[in-house]
Amino acid sequence: MNILSAEFVVSSVNSDNWPKGNIPEFAFVGRSNVGKSSLINVLVNKRSLAKTSSMPGKTRTINHFIINKEKSPWYLVDLPGYGFANAPEKERKKWEAFTKSYLRERENLVCTFVLIDSRHSPQQVDLSFLKWMAESALPMAIIFTKTDKVKPTELEKNLVSFDTALGEFLDQTPNILVTSSSSRNGRDEVLAFISRLMP
Ligand code: GTP
Ligand code: MG
Repeated sequence: MNILSAEFVVSSVNSDNWPKGNIPEFAFVGRSNVGKSSLINVLVNKRSLAKTSSMPGKTRTINHFIINKEKSPWYLVDLPGYGFANAPEKERKKWEAFTKSYLRERENLVCTFVLIDSRHSPQQVDLSFLKWMAESALPMAIIFTKTDKVKPTELEKNLVSFDTALGEFLDQTPNILVTSSSSRNGRDEVLAFISRLMP
């Protein structure tokens, strides 16, 4: 997959503002600060197309980016993070509600990437979200992030425990990709994965 262009299209909180049409779409969701916006920037080779921050809770709307607008266009979608303990409860509930509505209702959504911080053992907030994805029968793949920050043995251990935890409620383990936005490891694999799913 060659990235020829990448442009911001729209920020939204409800379906009225989602782009019309039926071009393929891929969304990035996951815990606040897990590295969704950073990974999008790495994928498209732009430093700050998606806004990033070292403080959790940066992305607070649904953000559509159009890729390769002139030739075989598709959308990348950056979503607000979940599990951000410092946001007011009301705000958190609101983000969660419109993010889940988007994931459930968006008809041209081909696959949702659920990002997981590779430095940790399985976290309840991620497992609950993955369970919701599975119960909603939404197509997904898992991307482990920040692998530059974890030793290979620790990474392997976390991947195995995660697989075991997923086995509790999933019949089949989803596709798993391993990335680092600092080293750009895994970028080509994510783009190749997207290519393969392109209708
Ligand atoms: P929210 O929008 O708040 O939900 O966060 P997000 O998931 O979009 O995370 P974001 O991309 O803003 O990154 C959060 C912080 O993690 C930033 O300080 C990034 O520089 C850092 N970060 C993201 N990915 C990586 C990575 O692969 N390696 C390292 N070392 N840091 C990363
Ligand atoms: Mg973000």
